[in-house]
Amino acid sequence: MCGIFGAICEDALSDTLKGLKLLEYRGYDSAGVAIKTQHNQLQLTKRVGRVSNVIAATQGLPKVQFAVGHTRWATHGEVCERNAHPFLSQDGRFALVHNGILDNYIQLREQLTQKGVHFVSDTDSEVAVQLLMTKAPLYDDIKDALTDTARMLHGSFAIAVLDSNTDSLYLLRRGSPLYIGISNSGNYLSSDVNTLRYFCSRVGVLEENAFCELNSKGATQYSIDDGRVLPIHYINVKTKQLDKDSQGDAMLSEIAEIPHALQKTFDYLTTTAICPDKSMANNIRRIYLIGCGTAYHSCLIGAQYIRRFCNVTVEAVLASEWWYSYYKADSNTLVVAVTQSGETADTLNAARECKRQGATVYAVTNVEGSTVTFVADKVILTQADNERAVASTKAYACQVLALTIFALQFAETKGLIASEQVADYKADFYALPRAVGSVLAEGDKDIDRVANKLSQSKAVYFIGRGTDYFTAREGSLKLKEVSYIHSEAYASGELKHGTLAMMEKGVTVVGIACDSEVMSRHKATVSEITSRGADVITVTPYCTPNECDTLVIPIVNAIYYPILSVVPLQLLAYKCAVLRGCDADKPRNLAKSVTVE
Ligand code: M6R
Repeated sequence: MCGIFGAICEDALSDTLKGLKLLEYRGYDSAGVAIKTQHNQLQLTKRVGRVSNVIAATQGLPKVQFAVGHTRWATHGEVCERNAHPFLSQDGRFALVHNGILDNYIQLREQLTQKGVHFVSDTDSEVAVQLLMTKAPLYDDIKDALTDTARMLHGSFAIAVLDSNTDSLYLLRRGSPLYIGISNSGNYLSSDVNTLRYFCSRVGVLEENAFCELNSKGATQYSIDDGRVLPIHYINVKTKQLDKDSQGDAMLSEIAEIPHALQKTFDYLTTTAICPDKSMANNIRRIYLIGCGTAYHSCLIGAQYIRRFCNVTVEAVLASEWWYSYYKADSNTLVVAVTQSGETADTLNAARECKRQGATVYAVTNVEGSTVTFVADKVILTQADNERAVASTKAYACQVLALTIFALQFAETKGLIASEQVADYKADFYALPRAVGSVLAEGDKDIDRVANKLSQSKAVYFIGRGTDYFTAREGSLKLKEVSYIHSEAYASGELKHGTLAMMEKGVTVVGIACDSEVMSRHKATVSEITSRGADVITVTPYCTPNECDTLVIPIVNAIYYPILSVVPLQLLAYKCAVLRGCDADKPRNLAKSVTVE
């Protein structure tokens, strides 16, 4: 959460603002930038709201060579200019931006206040810059002051510091990701590897508990613990043009990209060994699929398919609940950490703990070079391309596809399913991108009609059985996430155990019924609901009872319905957001990467 960007180049302010705009999905309640002027003074511009407000406020400033900036997702202190980053040290020497949470900031703040430091914000982050100010005079080399500061900070941090006395930017990393980008035209830093693609192709991944000096000549990394130089691990990333992805209605265009993303993911994963080999497969006694939010919903579907095909104990676990649920991992455990961003703190922490207990960890992620790719023993990379909207759509579709292919390949490796059968499933995949395409092309009028109904409903319930229930959960999360309509998801059979009491006029139930075998039961459920005055909309490839509205989807191999049937639900959520005047790309209170626990 929060985004950090910095640049050392000919027009560092302009590049930093571009970087912040790309990072805005990480937090968007306020933003700010610090520059070093030609007279070596630090100048701050901060605004409440979007990066565009900072862009407007910095119009006309001369070009500078050094800048750092920040987009905020508030954790400590209300949303206001005073609490926006960067923070300036009281003596004006340092400007600092921070992503993460400093656990001991109250103690440090008290100690510094006693020494006469005056704080201007309510944040934990400001403590870091004032602490650095008090350390700087104690050392000949600013690097020693920075490592001393870092050692006193408890908690998680990705920090970038602009120093008016030197021509370097200083970076500190513990717990939160931080990357540097090196190019002929400038050097950069970012809390998000994807953002750097727009500026350079060579990206360095800072180590955990590391400190880095970045200047126009390059970067040097040191250990915070003992000061020794650490080699920087560089990766080459595919560069991108700035205007291609950086504007427009991201959620809608990302839904439209699903057919292409699925095809790319399928082509990549079916030509890559993504499963354990036979001897390892036979040693695995238990599989945990872990993730949060939407990624967890793909885990639920993946677990269902692994259970169905692979004869192994498997469970989908909310990564945020790992610590509270008495799960155990050992050397016979395979953990698959599913995370679009590869940066979700809850997922990373649970994955690290499983590794510590001896498990093998696989990662399903959409971001090459993200933190999870360094935690995992093996990486299964989905090919959804950069996803900017906070609501995950195309990445979710690709996660479900990846786990479906994983289940089939795992079963094949264990000899539990014939290769011909796997080949048939794969052959049937080719109809899926076309089917999604036809929902996108033809569904508009129907989806508009249903969105109108939903956006006026006092509550919306999503129901389904089997994998349809997991799709219901994802549809419900998407709707509330972007349109703020109250919504819940239930296994259809659970309605009569309590929730039926809520059915009355003004309530809408969205049923997902893709399994032909459960259609008769769904029909009975529809009667139970409509006879109590609520409306029902069914997403299905089949005929539905007269009393319910229908969103028809094409027929595909049943194994692919979770990928297809979620698309109208994503569109519904988007359209409800638009009808209700909500910003679907940047829903209130949320951020794309949840890097705090
Ligand atoms: O990056 P991750 O896949 O680990 O993110 C996990 C969740 O925070 C994420 O899926 C969240 O639920 C989305 N905003 C849902 O659209």
